[in-house]
Amino acid sequence: MTANNHKQHLYPTRIDMSAATRSQVVGLLNATLATTLDLKTQVKQAHWNVKGMDFYQLHLLFDEMATELEEYVDTVAERVTALGGLAVGTARTAAADSILPEFPFDILDGKEYVTALADRYAPYAQHLRVAINKTGELGDADTADLYTEISRTIDKRLWFLEAHLQASATTATAAAEKVAVK
Ligand SMILES: [Fe+2]
Repeated sequence: MTANNHKQHLYPTRIDMSAATRSQVVGLLNATLATTLDLKTQVKQAHWNVKGMDFYQLHLLFDEMATELEEYVDTVAERVTALGGLAVGTARTAAADSILPEFPFDILDGKEYVTALADRYAPYAQHLRVAINKTGELGDADTADLYTEISRTIDKRLWFLEAHLQASATTATAAAEKVAVK
């Protein structure tokens, strides 16, 4: 995460949380905002470009996932403003501050797209789980709850993605074990 000073600007508010706590939570939420925006555009990239015999189901699944992320973008940004912070969520700040790598442009079929997304949902899920603990430790149970809600859904989405990959991985492992037994 880059540390631009304008991101730490806090407006006065009557909310019963110290400026120091709000500043830390706002910094974390803005990192989440950037990453969620970035991930949403990457899922859309997959929605548009995936190819192969599973095209249509993946095209629909990816759109559902992008819509879900769009809702979280708004939820996270509005928690920033509720805490008196400045929500930083343009395309440029998302690209600069996201924790994720850029989406690969040289992939083609469904399995490659599902793998690329799983490789991005996993660190996003980890970021959310760390944030649950951090905001809990800071005494902001409401933001911790917000993170918990998002985390539960993202874990489920990671399962959806990995379910496409686990059958072939399991089959390959079983086949390798069969060979080893012989
Ligand atoms: Fe579409």
